[in-house]
Amino acid sequence: MPTPTDELALGDDLRAFVDASPSPSHAVAELARRLGAAGFTELAEVDRWQLAPGAAHFVVRRGGSLIAFRVGSAPLASSGMRLVGAHTDSPTFKVRPHNDVRQAGYRLVGVEPYGGALLHTWLDRELTVAGRVALRGGRTALVRLPGAPLRLPSLAIHLDRSVREGLTLDPQRHLVPVWDRDLGTTPGLAEALATAAGVDADDVVGHDLVLADTQPAARAGADGTWIAAPRLDDLACCHSGLTALLAAPAGERTQVLVCNDHEEVGSGSMQGARGSFLADVITRLVAVTDPGDVQAVHRAVARSVLVSADLGHAVHPTRADRHEPAHTPELGGGPVLKLNANQAYATDALGSGWFAERCAEAGVPVQYFVSRADLPCGSTIGPLTATRLGIPTVDVGAPMLAMHSCRELASALDVPLMVGALGACLRD
Ligand code: CO
Repeated sequence: MPTPTDELALGDDLRAFVDASPSPSHAVAELARRLGAAGFTELAEVDRWQLAPGAAHFVVRRGGSLIAFRVGSAPLASSGMRLVGAHTDSPTFKVRPHNDVRQAGYRLVGVEPYGGALLHTWLDRELTVAGRVALRGGRTALVRLPGAPLRLPSLAIHLDRSVREGLTLDPQRHLVPVWDRDLGTTPGLAEALATAAGVDADDVVGHDLVLADTQPAARAGADGTWIAAPRLDDLACCHSGLTALLAAPAGERTQVLVCNDHEEVGSGSMQGARGSFLADVITRLVAVTDPGDVQAVHRAVARSVLVSADLGHAVHPTRADRHEPAHTPELGGGPVLKLNANQAYATDALGSGWFAERCAEAGVPVQYFVSRADLPCGSTIGPLTATRLGIPTVDVGAPMLAMHSCRELASALDVPLMVGALGACLRD
């Protein structure tokens, strides 16, 4: 059994976090559960907030996004904040409103792709449905259907030899998960959701549901130090940020963890990074610590640093040609500082220097990632939040392989390194 000091213990805890979080709503519920167990109490956006120095709270917007904070002893305008940002969503498929599809003697579930999934990785896996249902009267319930009721079977090679030249998947026609044979009498998804929520089918009046892989996250690799799991992008950074925040001692500066939904589809929503959630929370924090000072928000933001934490690309064992030869992050090699000349990442000289110094304080190695000049670059919540708020931001993340696969790969050795680096940032 690993002990708490075992270098794999935090990786094992990440696996438990991922298994508890098949949807953004579940990730937020698990974050809230862990925050509550550590003494953080929930605030509602509709209430008036009373905040004392040292107070630790969290607030949830629309089920999929969460902001947690520990109020510092100094007013925000004079000390600023240290923030860690990550995202709760991952590429998947969203269940459609009219989802009861019947064809070829089967009953299927109509879904729509969400984000940039590696579509073929969803074939032949044990899938379920998870997320949030709206109930009559304005209540909501988290649901995860038991077992593995859904599947996207491959077409046998005998029925389409052209697959040897490359698999082409049309999401509308080919990626409709099968539920059962169409026997006319067996319960469908609607009945199963109601049963899982403990209500009548008529009481379910809306849903935000996604497909999820049911195979538990696993230790992998020859020495068992790798983690094979769904949704590591970006649940791994939600987990590292939370773990760092819970371990950080209260100080002068206010410490913040922001976990946004909708990053994989551009962040344009009320709970996404383009929305007002973080700005609203900061405005309310400052209103309490610096009442009546109309410049306080701007002073607080200008004194702050946001560490935008999202997974980065480790060099691929057989496709190293897709990496910039002088920038090849290794699994287990520590946090990756992400830079891009075209501002797909928010990291600049001051930000990268500041983060590297914090890592040095924590005894954590730093790696660097840039895209090849002949390849486009992914992005994160970092530049969006920096653009919206004018907050100094640095983009970092743990290295991984198979990003946006249904089953991704990272190193458990990077988990304590990320937690150590983010902890040093929050303590700064
Ligand atoms: Co991501």
